[in-house]
Amino acid sequence: MAGDGRQVEVQRMMIKMTVPESGAESQPAADAENRQATGAESRQATGAESQPAAGAESRAAGDAESRPAAGEAGRCLAFSEGCPVLFELGSAGASAACLGASDVPAADLAEALPGSLVCDEPPALPEIAEPDLVRHYTRLSRRLFSVDGNFYPLGSCTMKYNPRVNERAAAMPGFAGLHPFQDDADVQGLLELLYRLRRFLEEIAGLSEVTLQPSAGAQGEMTGLMVINAYHRSRGEHRPKVLTPDSAHVTNLASCAICGRQACSVKSRADGRVDLDDLRRQVDERTAALMITNPNTVGVFDEQIGDIAEIVHAKGAQLYLDGANMNALLGIARPGQFGVDAMHYNTHKTFSTPHGCGGPGSGPVGVAEHLRPFLPVPQVVRNDDGTYRWDDDRPDSIGKVRSFYGQTGVLVRAYAYIRSLGADGLKKVSETAVLSANYLAARLKARFDLPFPAPYAHEFVLLPRLREGVSETDVAKRLIEFGFHPPTMSWPIAHCLMIEPTETESRATLDAFADAMITIADEIEHNPQRVKSAPQNMPVQRVDEVAAARRPVVRWPDGSGRNDAKTG
Ligand SMILES: Cc1ncc(COP(=O)(O)O)c(C=O)c1O
Repeated sequence: MAGDGRQVEVQRMMIKMTVPESGAESQPAADAENRQATGAESRQATGAESQPAAGAESRAAGDAESRPAAGEAGRCLAFSEGCPVLFELGSAGASAACLGASDVPAADLAEALPGSLVCDEPPALPEIAEPDLVRHYTRLSRRLFSVDGNFYPLGSCTMKYNPRVNERAAAMPGFAGLHPFQDDADVQGLLELLYRLRRFLEEIAGLSEVTLQPSAGAQGEMTGLMVINAYHRSRGEHRPKVLTPDSAHVTNLASCAICGRQACSVKSRADGRVDLDDLRRQVDERTAALMITNPNTVGVFDEQIGDIAEIVHAKGAQLYLDGANMNALLGIARPGQFGVDAMHYNTHKTFSTPHGCGGPGSGPVGVAEHLRPFLPVPQVVRNDDGTYRWDDDRPDSIGKVRSFYGQTGVLVRAYAYIRSLGADGLKKVSETAVLSANYLAARLKARFDLPFPAPYAHEFVLLPRLREGVSETDVAKRLIEFGFHPPTMSWPIAHCLMIEPTETESRATLDAFADAMITIADEIEHNPQRVKSAPQNMPVQRVDEVAAARRPVVRWPDGSGRNDAKTG
């Protein structure tokens, strides 16, 4: 891997931090660079229409004593809420398009097209001039919380800043303009990139071979289980059980179900690690695999992983690693060396490409030597003459798990990310992600309960000290007023917040977030109504979140003025 030519962004994110040993509220001395960064961030954020700069809470903190009317239960979010739609803007005759004079003879539509296809009247499209159109979309974009505008510590989702250069690489016509039916000879550049990427991923995992085909973490899990099942079948064994720790991500259970395997839960200890006694009790000759996430979903790395591998292997079962949290391990630990037989990466979390709530993803799966024959086809391979091709000739393969060759745009980004950071840079990514999480936890521990003891990997779970009817949702809504996207809520344990600061945030941002959290902790004690009435500075305050997701109103009222709430 290239170790030089690294991205400027990476230099910026590698900041010096020390974790305070005690006194969670004591602010470590910010260096001059960080102070400058705070100023720059605030200036940047005030450009947004409705989102306060990080740490600008005092301006946001109004004193309303009750929930705004908009918070009434049962409301769902109408598409146009507080913002006109294109149909309401513009005026008759306005247009954002300017077509030149026709240089072909005029044709009579009635003759050129069958009558049934010709409308009596032109469709009622919005008529709007270009500047108004641009302003409309810009206005809408400013209403979005995004990783480009705000700190987004969404635990388990890894919403980190993604360097633009990777986007640029993925958009290059030589990649973006290819067609999957093109001959191997036409697409040698892409094949070489994919081949190299899979070799990088093999090296990072310490495993023998990687397939790039699965297009999400969840699909990677399914693929890994299919490979493991094929392996057991090839040995004439029927193993219908898959063990998952009780902290497992829900997709693990779904993957078991979709592969026709019964998921059996293994207990965790109070410190979040696997209860080895329970594991020993449950693993047997009918067990196909243990699917484990490490670092796990409560943010701790289970150092017993070597023992876990031994216990599982002793019964002929396989150890599957849900590698969604690999951004805590890069260059630090290689799963293949701690006994993992198969794993997936979430390249969209670990190696660039924004994640969280949808969007394209990719879930490459790596396997140890004995599972190689069962990997999906086609596999990208290098010929002896240095050219590349898709190899379909793998008789024991489980077959294809998705159309064509995988989510290549995401894979190009992952390759660019890995190449530009190099081995040292990747290690620094993980070190910084882990340091950031532990730093924040240390700053917050005096005012929040930490149900699982430190040290943490790249994320951690905390419990607000809720009283006076304040809920974790209220805390999350109040954070929005400070300019922070709320952390994951009530997962993996009830009423918790799960915080993943990621490696891309400056210490100034982490401090601003910690300050906001401590202010909210004070408010819960002294002014709970203030927390319950948040957010007051957003175009939309509270909505019925279930209805907003299940019954969104996405249709503009028809000519009758009736908005019949057709759902999406
Ligand atoms: C621990 C864990 N496993 C699996 C997944 C599923 O990954 P994906 O959303 O790419 O399907 C996630 C997603 O964030 C995760 O956090």
